[in-house]
Amino acid sequence: GDHPLGLTPPMGWNSWNVWATSVDADKVKAAADEMVSSGLAAHGFQYINIDDSWEAGRDAAGNILSNEKFPDMKGMADYVHAKGLKLGVYSSPGPQTCGHYTGSYQHEQQDANTYAAWGVDYLKYDWCSYGDIATGDGQEKYIAPYRIMGDALYKTNRDIFYSLCQYGMGDVWTWGASVHANSWRTTGDINDTWRIMYGTFSGESGHEKYAGPGHWNDTDMLVVGRLGWSAQTHPTKLKPNEQILHITVWSLLSSPLLIGCDLTQLDPFTKALLTNDEVLDVNQDPLGKPAGRIANNNGAQIWARPLWDGTQAVGLVNTGSLAADITVTWAQLGLTGKQPIRDLWRRKDIGALTHGYTVSVPAHSAVLIKVGKPKKMD
Ligand code: GLA
Repeated sequence: GDHPLGLTPPMGWNSWNVWATSVDADKVKAAADEMVSSGLAAHGFQYINIDDSWEAGRDAAGNILSNEKFPDMKGMADYVHAKGLKLGVYSSPGPQTCGHYTGSYQHEQQDANTYAAWGVDYLKYDWCSYGDIATGDGQEKYIAPYRIMGDALYKTNRDIFYSLCQYGMGDVWTWGASVHANSWRTTGDINDTWRIMYGTFSGESGHEKYAGPGHWNDTDMLVVGRLGWSAQTHPTKLKPNEQILHITVWSLLSSPLLIGCDLTQLDPFTKALLTNDEVLDVNQDPLGKPAGRIANNNGAQIWARPLWDGTQAVGLVNTGSLAADITVTWAQLGLTGKQPIRDLWRRKDIGALTHGYTVSVPAHSAVLIKVGKPKKMD
């Protein structure tokens, strides 16, 4: 349909980072249950996304089938909807998905229609085996398969959020919106190591001008809480400070907030990280202007974005391995005079300062502040 979708970035859960191919219907239903009972849903998390490994080939008429782990996809959508949540599924423009399950190649409209009939609200569409059959020159090679599914989803009678996953190839940020995409991955897969988590956002500055309401850069899913990529789960290997940086930066970038952990084992620290509304409000800011990096001195980075109320969100991000004093000056933000400051993680007013703000930031961590006087609303 042509209703505007994703006016703020999607918030929800995806099965991959904890269950990978061991996901099944019971685990997805448990995630939906916990999304509501933990209170996360009340903070805005609403998508329950099934990633790769639900697909089981096609029937004689070519309709996509779900495998024994997911006996009833329509029933799953009904279950999730009854909780006030939305359901996502996963496919590939190639003949096979990354996990070698059935992809949508040459069945795009049929699959889009099936998703709509089931009541699906979100599609993650992953390049995978399309690389073996791609034709076309330059960017067109990357655009063509995504345009086919974008048009197919558009023609259904259901609003289905369209999430592109092809790791930033062909500068996807420059054309994603033109194929009706609501988000696009900009990098390779995240995992819960500092090096890879850092790698998924370190190249983002400059992409912010391509994102906005309805179409977002996606620096991949969250790696906080209990993760796995197998039947075995473990607490994230990111240190607590690194997790604060992770959520801070994803909020500044307006990246989708897709929790990747086992929600049935949510610990108090992870829950606190994911339920600070002042931080989430930066991610969900209706102006929809993601942050760019305005300074980077030996890993002491400043990322800033304007907010709808006339203030600015500023991240003082220490990617170095030693604690550092980081200063943002009002000149860097285009401001003069006395400016009020609020620390969003601590939910505390710092007071008004004249030239800028200096704060000690632990190694691999971040401080997130709001600077300026909100404009008066009538
Ligand atoms: C790719 C994607 C991951 C996940 C797997 C599933 O690696 O980037 O997010 O969807 O495929 O096979």
